[in-house]
Amino acid sequence: MADKASLTIGDKNFDYPVMSGSVGPDVIDIRKLYGQTDVFTYDPGFTSTASCQSQITYIDGDAGILLHRGYPIDQLAEQSNFMEVSYLLLNGELPGSDELEQFTRTITRHTMLHEQLATFYRGFRRDAHPMAIMCGVVGALSAFYHDSTDITDPRQRMIASHRLIAKMPTIAAMAYKYSVGQPFLYPQNDLSYTGNFLRMTFGVPAEPYEVNPIIEKAMDRIFILHADHEQNASTSTVRLAGSSGANPFACIAAGIACLWGPAHGGANEAALNMLREIGRPERIPEYIARAKDKDDPFRLMGFGHRVYKNFDPRAKVMQQTATEVLDDLGISDPVLDTARELAEIALKDDYFIEKKLYPNVDFYSGVILSAIGFPTTMFTALFALARTVGWVAQWNEMIADPEQKIGRPRQLYTGPTQRDYVPVGKR
Ligand code: CMC
Repeated sequence: MADKASLTIGDKNFDYPVMSGSVGPDVIDIRKLYGQTDVFTYDPGFTSTASCQSQITYIDGDAGILLHRGYPIDQLAEQSNFMEVSYLLLNGELPGSDELEQFTRTITRHTMLHEQLATFYRGFRRDAHPMAIMCGVVGALSAFYHDSTDITDPRQRMIASHRLIAKMPTIAAMAYKYSVGQPFLYPQNDLSYTGNFLRMTFGVPAEPYEVNPIIEKAMDRIFILHADHEQNASTSTVRLAGSSGANPFACIAAGIACLWGPAHGGANEAALNMLREIGRPERIPEYIARAKDKDDPFRLMGFGHRVYKNFDPRAKVMQQTATEVLDDLGISDPVLDTARELAEIALKDDYFIEKKLYPNVDFYSGVILSAIGFPTTMFTALFALARTVGWVAQWNEMIADPEQKIGRPRQLYTGPTQRDYVPVGKR
């Protein structure tokens, strides 16, 4: 592509530099646009806007490609593990065995929560949604770990990052325990990151808990599949919150709040609820018709993506994992059959073909999580747990970026122009 782009406004011409990344579309650098022309660009939802430069994750939505630091997601999901992927996202390279061991040890040793945080949970109603608890507790970490909130100190930033990755499983497991009225379990350092989380969630103090290796592997893979996804809504929220200099725990709490929405991380919960509501394959056409009806707000949850206009590569791995887990555990779940059939029908339907709507990561994950024993309300909390590493990696990258400024979009104002105040008695 050319190295500059020209813009004509009225009888004036302006040139803007074109920047190229290592792969993917070029971008037009419009940073000087307003200063030179007195106009802004208009792009609600940022569909054509690159908000930053990043070296962490690359997505080619048309080709269905997702790379973390250059490594394809399917290779990482098949061959790596969540600790290694976390190291990769944070540091840019795969660790050597010593580095991996040290990183894993550091994360393991940060898994306990300040004891006083347990009382924080008790302020929530028992029926509180785990995401409501996660927002509150993660935000509260900034009141407990004062020695890692100075964002100008790279060491404190790294400690905060390690704490967030390490404590998130404990926080999520405690949210679950609180909802079922069981005692909280402390982490156990001889278990893996994922095994530890499973024990803290499903174990009880009254008896030993044995981690099922099949479930541990599937869960770890689910964490890898959710670890990062470039500048999605929650990551952009974390970056925007962080751009003001807010502390890391507050920024991640903001990311959790954004992730909760049904158009984003809340879709896994919504997708399983939808599949259960459909119940049997005969009802699929009714739901497909509703999804296509412009007057019906219903959407096929777990379908469609802002960036992927092809099969979400994470959905492919997730579908295969769903089959493996259910087979290994000897579970036959009609919901998986409904999901498969729904996907098959939708993928042949003109509406979905024309709009390039394919199953996304959330379409099959609920089936696996439900087979493992998680209630639907925990699904998005698990997404938050895994995405925390992506959030902190992106947050660190932003703070270290000399081009970063406070995020401050402008607007096209369409409200009333200036008018005089009229006292209430005269209106
Ligand atoms: N079912 C039916 N129609 C759909 C769907 C769907 N799931 N998704 C998009 N469409 C239609 C939409 O109505 C629109 O039609 P038209 O052009 O006639 O107005 C067209 O496809 C484009 O949709 P859009 O809403 O403009 O696209 P977007 O990029 O703003 O939205 C999305 C992307 C993911 C929010 C949307 O596809 C959606 O709501 N999907 C269901 C929720 C979901 O599964 N979300 C998880 C996303 S992946 C995990 C994550 O990021 O957290």
